[in-house]
Amino acid sequence: MPEDDRPQVLMMSEITVDGKLTLKRGASSKILMKYMAPETEVLLHRTRAECDAIMVGANTIRIDNSFLTVRLVEGKNPLRVIPTSSGEIPPGANVLGSDARTLIVVSEAAPPDKIARLRDAGVDVLVVGTSQVDLPRLMRILKQDYGVDRMMIEGGPTLNWSMLHHHLVDEIRLIHLPFIVGGADTPSLVGGMHIETEEEMIRLSLKRHYMCGSNLVTEWEVLYSS
Ligand SMILES: NC(=O)c1ccc[n+]([C@@H]2O[C@H](COP(=O)([O-])OP(=O)(O)OC[C@H]3O[C@@H](n4cnc5c(N)ncnc54)[C@H](OP(=O)(O)O)[C@@H]3O)[C@@H](O)[C@H]2O)c1
Repeated sequence: MPEDDRPQVLMMSEITVDGKLTLKRGASSKILMKYMAPETEVLLHRTRAECDAIMVGANTIRIDNSFLTVRLVEGKNPLRVIPTSSGEIPPGANVLGSDARTLIVVSEAAPPDKIARLRDAGVDVLVVGTSQVDLPRLMRILKQDYGVDRMMIEGGPTLNWSMLHHHLVDEIRLIHLPFIVGGADTPSLVGGMHIETEEEMIRLSLKRHYMCGSNLVTEWEVLYSS
């Protein structure tokens, strides 16, 4: 069950049959997204419109240069939330544009000149955490100060793992793509786990599965043991 001092969080991702999020390390997932059925693209945008905020890790911004806006359905753009401990967001990044409100969240390790440059670009910048962005604290701030009740995260694997590690994800919605891309170091849904025992496995319960156009979609509840 979600805590009520933070937003309800949905992780949503396109994923190959072998659990990968992109073609190879460093490649944009937009290449794979081209193979989503039109109906599934609408589902993705409808889900964005249903959320108060959308979060992706800074590396996804650096690689995919995502807009994170609602384009295929009517609806308002969610607040774009980008955690970057280093403050490293490229000057021409689409999330720095005026299509939607953006909140860049840095740690105390981010150099002041990078923070100043981001503020000059017109986005809100928050400092939350010492060396890394403190995600549990950020979630409470989003709920209390920004009125975010429902948030989606769209990856990548580093952020997905951190959010799961802190028990901050309530549901997972996967768009299954009928491909195998392989690659031992190709980013998969969750990076950085390296569990030692089966007790550390994160358990899920399948809530729904359905076809959306030609794509299988599965919806899972995350069951944390403690
Ligand atoms: N198929 C899909 O649905 C999908 C969706 C999204 C992404 N992707 C793919 O995923 C790949 C990128 O994934 P990635 O794992 O390299 O990066 P990522 O998860 O997108 O971003 C990781 C970055 O987030 C920032 N961050 C700040 N605080 C953090 C915290 N507490 N925990 C974790 N991250 C924190 C750090 O930025 P700093 O380094 O600036 O400190 C960190 O390097 C790309 O290839 C992209 O195409 C696929």
